[in-house]
Amino acid sequence: MDLIERHPILDFSHGEKVSFSFDGRDMEGFEGEPIAMALHANGVRIYRKTPEMRRPRGFFCAIGKCSSCFMVVDGVPNVRTCVTPLKSGMKVETQNGRGRVNLFAEEAS
Ligand code: FES
Repeated sequence: MDLIERHPILDFSHGEKVSFSFDGRDMEGFEGEPIAMALHANGVRIYRKTPEMRRPRGFFCAIGKCSSCFMVVDGVPNVRTCVTPLKSGMKVETQNGRGRVNLFAEEAS
């Protein structure tokens, strides 16, 4: 993991270590940390591709004020992963374009 473990003046406390998936790959992070932070710690830098030009986007503001970190989380598109807490078993996917809402997801399962 690509994390700062020790700092001279800051204390980093973490939640419980949990597993989640990113584009079908198993990853680990800490419960309650932002999803984008867990992805960054696992080496992931691209979170979405723009709708028109398919340009890659990752962290930008990291405080929930832009759309750079939009991803599909548990089937829901446009989730701001820099301010959304990680939970065990989450399914996180790269968002291509605007994302689609599957209105019939519950009926299909
Ligand atoms: S990086 Fe700007 S809202 Fe997440």
